[in-house]
Amino acid sequence: MMNKPFSQACENNKRPILNILTKVFSTTKHVLEIGSGTGQHAVFFGQHLPHLSWQTSDLLINHQGINFWLDETTLANVQRPIVIDLDKNWPIAENNLPIDGLYTANTLHIISWPLVIKFFEAIAQNLSSKANVCIYGPFNYQGKFTSESNENFDSWLKGRDINSGIRDIEAVLLLANSAGLTLMDDHLMPANNRLLVFSKM
Ligand SMILES: C[S@@+](CC[C@H](N)C(=O)[O-])C[C@H]1O[C@@H](n2cnc3c(N)ncnc32)[C@H](O)[C@@H]1O
Repeated sequence: MMNKPFSQACENNKRPILNILTKVFSTTKHVLEIGSGTGQHAVFFGQHLPHLSWQTSDLLINHQGINFWLDETTLANVQRPIVIDLDKNWPIAENNLPIDGLYTANTLHIISWPLVIKFFEAIAQNLSSKANVCIYGPFNYQGKFTSESNENFDSWLKGRDINSGIRDIEAVLLLANSAGLTLMDDHLMPANNRLLVFSKM
């Protein structure tokens, strides 16, 4: 049996991220999280943003861990994970979720570039107009790493999966624009990360 998963990075970044989500999701009702990971972000943001419902999702392999975190809370506004594999269609119509918010952290550098493309195509298909989209993680600017630690991280990522790696912001913004997203803010976050905030047409 697995132990409850824990990410120190989530503990470190959850408050700075919450400060921004509080504003961006102030009138949002239904947030879909892609790649919920341990489930720590969902539990923390669900606690602090009680006006919205937070739908967790990930590959099936992570569901048990997310459920461990949810089992320890009495949060009515955080939903048990659904399977969303970015290589497949999102099961949104089946579950009938009206999604006016999307959150994902540390996923675009993990998945392959073809899946980054599919991610934005799915956003175009599945999110309601005026939805707010928040994407957290490291990005390169003008083809350059923003820090030595990001460069080392990129080498480490590619050592375990050659298709992964820190993405160029310019390429990500092109895909986002094609999906009908307008960049509203690009927040500099601790540890050389960014929080990109988009609004859908
Ligand atoms: C580095 S973890 C980030 C987890 C969490 N969001 C965080 O910030 O700690 C990357 C996440 O992407 C998920 N992931 C990887 N491939 C995926 C795919 N094809 N479809 C959906 N999620 C995927 C992993 O299962 C994992 O939860």
